[in-house]
Amino acid sequence: MSDDSGPAPAESEPPAESGSAPAGTAAAGGGGGGLTRRALLVGVGAAGGAGAMFAAMGALGLAPESQERDFVPPQRSDFSLTGRGAAKVVVLGGSIAGLTCAYELGKAGYDCTVLEASDRVGGRTITLRAGDRLDELGGETQTAAFEEGTYFNAGAGRIAQWMVTLDYCRELGVPIETFVNNNASAYVYTRGMAAPVRARTARADLYGYVAELLAKASDTRALDRRLTAEDRERLAEFLRRFGDLGPDLTYRGSTRRGFETYPGVGEGVPLGAPPSLRAVLAAGTGRAVTIDFGYDQAMPMFQPVGGMDAIAGALADAVGRDRIRTGTRVTGIKNLPDGVEVTHQGGTLRADYCIATLPPHLLARLPHNLGAQVTAALRTPVPVAAGKIGLEYRRRWWETDDRIYGGVTETDLDITHIWYPSHGYHSRTGLVVGYYNTAENAELYGRLSHRDRRTRALTQGKKIHGEKYRTELRSSVSIAWQRRPHIEGGWVTWPSHEGGFALLQRPAGRVYFAGDWLTHLVAWQAGAMESARRAVTELHRRVLQATS
Ligand code: ALA
Repeated sequence: MSDDSGPAPAESEPPAESGSAPAGTAAAGGGGGGLTRRALLVGVGAAGGAGAMFAAMGALGLAPESQERDFVPPQRSDFSLTGRGAAKVVVLGGSIAGLTCAYELGKAGYDCTVLEASDRVGGRTITLRAGDRLDELGGETQTAAFEEGTYFNAGAGRIAQWMVTLDYCRELGVPIETFVNNNASAYVYTRGMAAPVRARTARADLYGYVAELLAKASDTRALDRRLTAEDRERLAEFLRRFGDLGPDLTYRGSTRRGFETYPGVGEGVPLGAPPSLRAVLAAGTGRAVTIDFGYDQAMPMFQPVGGMDAIAGALADAVGRDRIRTGTRVTGIKNLPDGVEVTHQGGTLRADYCIATLPPHLLARLPHNLGAQVTAALRTPVPVAAGKIGLEYRRRWWETDDRIYGGVTETDLDITHIWYPSHGYHSRTGLVVGYYNTAENAELYGRLSHRDRRTRALTQGKKIHGEKYRTELRSSVSIAWQRRPHIEGGWVTWPSHEGGFALLQRPAGRVYFAGDWLTHLVAWQAGAMESARRAVTELHRRVLQATS
């Protein structure tokens, strides 16, 4: 974010005061045992709230812009320092960003009202259960005919360990469980294959051949400009293990590929020799290797027990359901010299400040007086289509027949991914995500009726799982996020982070903006939460420092 690039006191700079806290404790702040200014501020914030922290920053001669990333929530006691009172804030959108804003400001006694256009909170965090209705622009309404206990996370589905989302789960008492993102027993499938390949097999072959090529290149001294003799030896030792190579540095396959019959009393029947290197490369099964290489995808990941909407639900409870007006679409925003006026379907609301968390492409369409630059900035990010289908099955054939317990099958079909559930193992029924696709593939499915999406998804999935993929189906629901009223997109991409992205980090008069779309964590609840924290910090600082 733009304000993080300003000069911030580095952790390694000389401590402002010496302290005796041992390194590694919170008070040491990771600064090698001394009490750094950063640690001091975090400590002051934790003990005294944001107001005390801002005051301490002033005393330390730190400009407000040099505030560090550590988030200190506003607290009621902050106002005793300034003699001011909490303000009235209208939050546009009961999204994760909007709810987080209202939750954090609520800690300091702000009078928040959340206006949400749809009949539920959570934005793109939707969990569908039996009887839930799902509308799409274009007119179709689906009603989930799931069994009691079945749920479908139609939007947000997984959380990485480093994300602030887990801190909110802890703070709000939302129980979590592992989300199996990477499963060697899941499949990888490429168009034209007679049968899918287990991710385990694909990885063994790719690691094996890549290791063989590199080991032999090194052995024939082709890499001598980069490697010393000692490097060569170490590399060969690693590659033998990495690829399960023979003593001659050749990959001939191994039990890592998996078995026809797994060992038990008998020694089992291994899958046998691998296809040739050329065949492995042609099969394109490398997509099974890179599935969780990204820092935001690496295993293990997590999900709330019982459905992702537990997070939005817990936030909404903490905010106070009476402060959240669902079914209330905003129709205009007016910045006034001493406040904001928000018009909505049910009337007009006056407040001291506004935080707008609607998707930028929808905000841009709202009548407002925030200026042409703001409109241009809001129009800059480009909405991206995304879609999912939940396929509920009468029996959990992926566990009993395929021995797949959670995880993802990667394909080059238009369904892209199939997700197996990471909960309810060995129960009678279950729900598979039959496609999770984006961009052109999501647009293609989004143009179809639900019935046709399902037919297409089943035709594709049957190539991998056979006839049962169709015959065991019990019910289904699909979502095309670009067709969701009041959202109209899976997420957005910014052509550039110059200009508009930076502009919208700052308030337009008394209107602040927040959402995952204003972070480098687009399409994650964590992005929405981080952005909300930033907006409330800025707003709270302004309220504490207000001269009138
Ligand atoms: N957060 C999205 C995902 O997990 C992008 O796929």
